[in-house]
Amino acid sequence: MAAKEHILFICDQCGFESRKWLGCCPDCGEWDSLKQKKKQRSPINSPPPELHSLGGDGGREPSRLVTGIGELDRVLGGGIVPGSMVLIGGDPGIGKSTLILQLLAALASQDHQVLYVTGEESVGQIRMRAERLTIKDEHIAVATENSVQAITALAETVKPAFLAVDSIQTMYSEEIASAPGSVTQVRESTSLLVNLAKSSGLPIILIGHVTKDGAIAGPRVLEHMVDTVLYFEGDRGQVFRVLRTVKNRFGSTNEIGVFEMKESGLAEVDNPSALFLAERPVNVPGSVVMPSVEGTRPILVEVQALVSPSSLGTARRTAIGADPQRLALLTAVLEKKIGVTLFDHDIFLNIAGGIRIDEPALDLGVIVALLSSLYEKVVDPTTVVCGEVGLAGEIRAVGQMEMRLLEARRLGFKTFLMPESSSRQLDKEPSKDIAIHTVRTVHDVVERLFV
Ligand code: TYD
Ligand code: MG
Repeated sequence: MAAKEHILFICDQCGFESRKWLGCCPDCGEWDSLKQKKKQRSPINSPPPELHSLGGDGGREPSRLVTGIGELDRVLGGGIVPGSMVLIGGDPGIGKSTLILQLLAALASQDHQVLYVTGEESVGQIRMRAERLTIKDEHIAVATENSVQAITALAETVKPAFLAVDSIQTMYSEEIASAPGSVTQVRESTSLLVNLAKSSGLPIILIGHVTKDGAIAGPRVLEHMVDTVLYFEGDRGQVFRVLRTVKNRFGSTNEIGVFEMKESGLAEVDNPSALFLAERPVNVPGSVVMPSVEGTRPILVEVQALVSPSSLGTARRTAIGADPQRLALLTAVLEKKIGVTLFDHDIFLNIAGGIRIDEPALDLGVIVALLSSLYEKVVDPTTVVCGEVGLAGEIRAVGQMEMRLLEARRLGFKTFLMPESSSRQLDKEPSKDIAIHTVRTVHDVVERLFV
């Protein structure tokens, strides 16, 4: 029986699928965005799928490709899993192509044949970058190509151990009429590459730009299609770059790797705490250190706040590296619970060094920095603070306190201000050489540090 052809229309903008053509997409409201795609329905008499049993020892984890770049391997959960699809997203110019080239070089130096396909740059440009990174290895094959079908054919001839595609926004499937970069193309191209990875066991890394306007056609729409999603973040004006796991089918999430962008490429940062605290001002109000834990990695960061009377009708609130909503909440708690007046003050919050902190343990750092700036009172520079703040002004326990404590001690901090409930769960050992002070409410914080 011949396969029956089904005609399908897909919206360029949002990926909505319809059996018939429509002038306006019912999902996103865009006009003239439905484009035809031929979909081959598998015939009814196609063979049933092969069955496997989870018994026996067939379920062992396949051996991973270890790059040897420690920060990268950890973020990947211990290396690259065969047949896996990794997506690495980030702002343009942040260093994604540089990281990938270094990754390829690391694999090539172990005699793995690797393939780098770019739709963005010429081979000459890649060569220039490679020279800058002093990468020269005949195991790295480079090609410029935009068609996924051509890439698949190329992968079949080169038979690489690893494939990098830079970037998904420049790729297109020959079966679809819409332009590269549209949601439909980005999705379809990714799905073809996922098929390639799964059917051949070839691990693939895909680069995706995050666009400022809500990441349309960016990595977000692909997150559910791939095995691992990494984001490469940082402030382009700064040298630090953080590689963060957002999703990982083969490892834990929230793992981070820290790099420094140098003249000759990305260098691993073994001691990020020291780096993030390197330029900390001494004896200045509005600054306090907070031990954060990202995945399995403790990092000390400096929380900075500037609170000053506003000359405008509506006071400004800015948070860099922290959640602005959380800042608004904490300001409200301070106003309500300790009676400070903040509505007529501009408030700027910044996590120094261009790193972003999402965990609630940052709360205590934020309120201490805010109060320190408001009261113009310096917080002892050998003190670290960490804890979540609740709406009733209570200071709540946070996890991994021992790890935070050890890191603070390692960097020579003398006092640790923490929630009382956390202190009760602590072992004796990590708290050697460091005094533990506890607080239960925001009132206690004021009394401890600012009277
Ligand atoms: P790139 O990897 O091209 O960024 P992306 O692929 O994410 O768009 O790198 C961009 C920046 O990195 C560029 O502005 C120059 C800088 N850079 C260095 O500082 N040192 C280096 O060795 C390299 C290769 C790039
Ligand atoms: Mg690039």
